Amino acid sequence: MSKVGRAGVVGVGAALPDTVITNTDLANILDTSDVWIQSRTGIVERRIGESNAQLAAAAALKAMSHANVGRRDIGLLVLATTSPDRHVPATSASVQDILGLSCGAFDLNAACSGFVYAVAVAASMAGTLGPIVVVGSEILTRITSSTDRSTAVLMGDGAGAVVLVASDDDEDEVWADLGVDGSLESLLYAELGGHMKMNGSEVFRNAVRMGTESARRVLDEAGISMAEVGLFVPHQANSRIVDAIAHRLGADRQCVRAIEKTGNTSAASIPLALSKAMEEGRLDHPKRLLLSGFGAGMTWASALVRWRPPEAPK
Ligand code: ACO
Repeated sequence: MSKVGRAGVVGVGAALPDTVITNTDLANILDTSDVWIQSRTGIVERRIGESNAQLAAAAALKAMSHANVGRRDIGLLVLATTSPDRHVPATSASVQDILGLSCGAFDLNAACSGFVYAVAVAASMAGTLGPIVVVGSEILTRITSSTDRSTAVLMGDGAGAVVLVASDDDEDEVWADLGVDGSLESLLYAELGGHMKMNGSEVFRNAVRMGTESARRVLDEAGISMAEVGLFVPHQANSRIVDAIAHRLGADRQCVRAIEKTGNTSAASIPLALSKAMEEGRLDHPKRLLLSGFGAGMTWASALVRWRPPEAPK
């Protein structure tokens, strides 16, 4: 896949649960330590929540308000998640109701690549449907065993969202590279009603390879060099994975690092990282974003999309 549509990102929002779990809290119940977790993952603390829909709605509302887009203007809601509130209905139905939207809504599951998949879908539909809210929202602790130190120290809960609007500008062409290798599904999975099982070192190895290759592919297809990218926003799985991919791409300067206070929040991690970039003043001007995710499946997804700071309300 290459060109998927013309659209820009015009608003960002985030929502985190109130409850903070520090590394020391985990070291009190698991055979681990703050030093091990920080040095091997870059994580210092993570949040634990209860309702995926409430978090998703809070993040979406902030993104809509940031974009100055009202609920009646929204043409579609796409919610990327691996940890919905129920099997049926989709969590996006609850979010539609909380927000009072009058558009269609659906959930999308491509694990940690889900948000980038959702951006690609939204970019292809914004021209016909109008502004689209794309949310990544997870209650990952719901599918994480609190007694499995290999996963419990990594995962956290949270939600992030963006608003995409269609554009006529050639500069706003959205490019995407989406993929999956289902033969690797045994590396990271959770059975229905069960907890995640992970082969950490193999996931690590494949994540670095897939994240790097996918980001390079989308740059090549778009004919854009890394120097022309304003921000590189990879899935925040582990700071060592983020650094390894950024280094291979020559994107150390543009890379957004945001795992320290949230842990790995799967489909929520890229919009949460975007929100952190905004707080740091890194989204003050229009710029090209390179988003790149990888995760269970194993899936991968990269997208080039422009950030356009929202216009002030008239
Ligand atoms: N605390 C202390 N020691 C630990 C812990 C822990 N939490 N976890 C593992 N160890 C130990 C291991 O038992 C091992 O001990 P040994 O040498 O005596 O056998 C040692 O630390 C090293 O283990 P490794 O697995 O080689 O450690 P590694 O440096 O690879 O880090 C980690 C493990 C953090 C899980 C890493 O492999 C990783 O981040 N993998 C990718 C995970 C990931 O991104 N998963 C999510 C994908 S996204 C999604 O879909 C949710």
